[in-house]
Amino acid sequence: MNILNFGSLNIDKVYEVDHLVRPGETITSRSFREFCGGKGLNQSFALAAAGAEVYHAGKIGRDGLLLKMFLENAGVDVSMIGVTEEPTGHANIQVNQDGENAIVLFGGANQKITGKDVRIILNKFEPGDYILLQNEISRMPEILKQASRAGLTIVFNPAPMGPEVLQYPLDGVKYFIMNEIEGEIFTGETEPEHIISSMLATFPDAAILLTLGENGVYYTDAGKKLFVHAEKVTALDTTGAGDTFVGYFVAELVAGQPVEKCLRTASRAAAICVTRQGAADSIPKKEEL
Ligand code: RIB
Repeated sequence: MNILNFGSLNIDKVYEVDHLVRPGETITSRSFREFCGGKGLNQSFALAAAGAEVYHAGKIGRDGLLLKMFLENAGVDVSMIGVTEEPTGHANIQVNQDGENAIVLFGGANQKITGKDVRIILNKFEPGDYILLQNEISRMPEILKQASRAGLTIVFNPAPMGPEVLQYPLDGVKYFIMNEIEGEIFTGETEPEHIISSMLATFPDAAILLTLGENGVYYTDAGKKLFVHAEKVTALDTTGAGDTFVGYFVAELVAGQPVEKCLRTASRAAAICVTRQGAADSIPKKEEL
């Protein structure tokens, strides 16, 4: 069973600040560093760190070759990462003293996926293979439609969540992995139980994973309801924690682990991630768990 992650690759420009900048305000940062990031790249890195074999498909500019090398060094198959004339996507990330962040994205090459790319890449995979998707690249509706038609098991992390997601053909999604904010935009509900029941009413064949950060994670499908507490840690930088959770969860699932074990392993990995700075660089290897 193969895992394809069709997703973004970003250069993360991280500024450590006393507080997240307010409208009209100019502030000075305490430090600046660049990291490899992008929800797609982070999730592929987490999958590989968890021991899974993963194919990453996506696009970078000539200024982003380090991202491809970074994934390759981690053991990810990078043969489906294309290079365009467009600059590589980047993220401007402020991290405050509580480890909370605020992110501004520039899509760049991530938004240059073409219909032809989608056809060529999806043709390489077979029914039963997994496809992992976020919402940081172009052509999402086509990818979702063709993946479903090809019989792939679709895992969708609707991040960053925008109103366009509500128009996507999501009927073929088997696993939705979302946080409360994404769940609220999706359903209009604010309470976790209501978000989950609303999602299940619309997607009765899917499993809904609702992550609540330091408060744990709910898993619900037609026959099962689980809740797993988050591990207590002191957060330094929460960037990439959600991606760590997604990558580890999918790796454990594909390895055939029971869902509760998948949730526990993914929660533990995410807890370690928040104690370190950066996105992909802060994702732990399985032996560290
Ligand atoms: O989820 C964290 C990621 O979101 C960062 O690495 C940044 O690139 C943005 O895509």
